Formats: sequence, structure tokens, C-alpha cells
Amino acid sequence: MVAGRVEGTSATAVAEPSETVRRQRVFSGMQPSGTPTLGNYLGAIRNWVVQQDQYDNVFCVVDLHALSLPTDRDTLRANTLNLAAALLAAGIDPARSVLFAQSDVREHSELCWLLTSVTQFGELRRMTQFKDKSAGREDVSAALFVYPVLQAADIILYDADLVPVGDDQRQHVELTRDIAERFNRRYGQTFVVPKPDIKAEGARIMALDDPSQKMSKSSGRPMSYIALTDDADTIRRKMKRAVTDSGSEVRAVPDKPALVNLLTIYSLLTGEDVPTIEERYAGRGYGAFKTDLAEVVVATVTPIQARIAEYAADPGAVQAILADGADRARDQASRKMALVRDRIGLGAG
Ligand code: AMP
Ligand code: TRP
Repeated sequence: MVAGRVEGTSATAVAEPSETVRRQRVFSGMQPSGTPTLGNYLGAIRNWVVQQDQYDNVFCVVDLHALSLPTDRDTLRANTLNLAAALLAAGIDPARSVLFAQSDVREHSELCWLLTSVTQFGELRRMTQFKDKSAGREDVSAALFVYPVLQAADIILYDADLVPVGDDQRQHVELTRDIAERFNRRYGQTFVVPKPDIKAEGARIMALDDPSQKMSKSSGRPMSYIALTDDADTIRRKMKRAVTDSGSEVRAVPDKPALVNLLTIYSLLTGEDVPTIEERYAGRGYGAFKTDLAEVVVATVTPIQARIAEYAADPGAVQAILADGADRARDQASRKMALVRDRIGLGAG
């Protein structure tokens, strides 16, 4: 947990734990832009949860990032609390992980501005997520452009070693490394240079209606994704409608991208390997497979939904967890910023 690490880096610490015993620090974030999808769950949340014991964890609801697209006050506040509740319901444990809302720790905004001075305009222009999200829009905010710098600030503020994310975030974590290295070269060793932690399986769950696109809640096509809050009948209906490839054999082969995606989901949720699943459905066609897959998904989300309902009935509990998380995060962040300001030569000293 952060507490242990904070002691290790504080001026009053008795002894600095050696590198070999120090647990690696994980940082990751998620935007409060609606209910997480099965893609968010398999690409990110689930990995955060299962790795909790192994690492020192900091997880952040990145509400400042959500401002990069137009937002409504009440929706933003509700989405922040709902996402925090969903993360807790999925298994993020405040006793083992710090969970907080980004804007509650002002140091994120401050470091973002400072890092814009060591980030090139051309680097940001090359970000594929910026190109995708700005394509065809007239009202592209500067925030959308600067977004990856804020992400870099999130990560390096806490000296994170590892950033568990889906594949679409690889480029942002690579940029974070470049920014951290550049700052260290210019001002002296200040930041840990983080590594992306992207799993071979599940890092890119595809849309149910089009296996060439990633599953995303912002697609505007409800049949393309499963939300963690979808009820059982909705999940069954979406699975039934999910596109399959030509033929009828349940096989994960390159010319069956839709089946590869569905088998990946089945395998990750059950822990069974793909050949075992293929064998089970040999000669039984797509229908039986999709019917069972819907039940596998329902079995995963049902207990999460029950816990979300408990948190929904007690929003004060979620607020208290986020407030405590922010206190713990701020402790570390403010110390880091004092060092950063001094390194750059800001203020009166
Ligand atoms: P976002 O909802 O864009 O804030 O994404 C939150 C996290 O979920 C990030 O780590 C993403 O890489 C991950 N993610 C989003 N969509 C998918 C997907 N379709 N498959 C796997 N991971 C995803
Ligand atoms: N940009 C990430 C996404 O859309 C969210 C994010 C913000 C993030 N800050 C982060 C992820 C820091 C990892 C680390 O998914």
C-alpha cells in the first residue's frame, strides 16, 4: 500500500527498504464517462484486482480527463461516484489499494502544466487516440490534445513502476516514459520511468457487432458492448445478436475474428483454455456456444451488480473511501511536487 512506500521515501523514515524488498508500485486510471464495459473489465479492472496483493496500488477515477469532451455537471459527479462504486464492487479493496478521484489531488493539474514544457507539440499530434477522438469534430478542445500529458503526470507523480492498461493505452504510456526520461535528463533524476503492463489476452476486446473495432461504451451502439450493469436478459440478447463468422465451427482461427473475440471472453472469464472450449462445442454450432457464453458473462457480472447496488444505497461510504484515498495519495503527491518545484527552480525558494 501507499502508506508503506510513503514511509520509505519520507525524510523521517528509519531505513529505506532495499530495491529487492520494495514492492513495485502500480498506477492506473479510468475515465468516469459511463458504466465500464466488459472490455474495461477484461483489459484493465480484472488485472488490477487480481494483482492487488502483489503490488503497491494506486487507482484513480480520472475526472479531469473526462473534461476533454463536453460534460454535464451532474452527470460528471454521478459518473465519478458510480465508477468508484463499480471498481469497489469488482474487487478493488481500499485496505490494499489507494482509490481516489483525480481532481481531489491538485498536484495532478500542476504537474501536467509543468510537463507540457518538456513535451513536444509534434509528439502529441502523433497520438492515435487524439486523431481518433478529434476526427470529424469541429469543437476539439485543447484539453483533448494535452490529455496524454495529464496522464503522464498521473503516473509519474507516484513513481509508478507499472501501468496496467488495455492495448489502446500503450502509446500514452510510451509517451509517459519519454517525458519522464526527458525531465530526468534536463533536471536530474526525479521520476521513475514506468512500464506498460499489457496482457497478451484480453487487452483488446472487440465490439460484438464488429470484430474490427474495439469494444467501447462511446461507440453509441448499445449492441456493440456489454456494460457491467447490463441485466441478464440484455446480456443474453446482446450475445445472441453478436456477429459470428461464416461457417459453424467454434474455432479461434485468424479468419474467424468474431469467434476469436468470443472465445477470448469465454476463456478469460472461466479460466479454461481455448482448445478445451473449442472441443466442448465441436459439432454443436454457434448457437449453443453463444447461449453458454451469455451465462458465463451473467455469472460474472451478477455478484458485481449486487455489490454496486449496496454502494448505490450508501453513497456516503463511497465518498468516504475516495476522501481517504485522496488523503493518502496527496501525501505522496505533495512531497513529489516539492521536489519537482525545487528541481525546476520555481517560486522564491
Ligand atoms: P477508458 O474507458 O477509455 O477510460 O479505458 C479504461 C481502461 O480500459 C484502459 O486501460 C483501457 O485500455 C481499457 N480498455 C478500454 N476498452 C477496452 C477493450 N475493448 N479491451 C480491452 N481493454 C479496454
Ligand atoms: N487515458 C486512460 C484511458 O482512457 C485513462 C487514464 C488516465 C490512465 N490517466 C491514466 C490510465 C494513468 C493509466 C494511467 O483509458
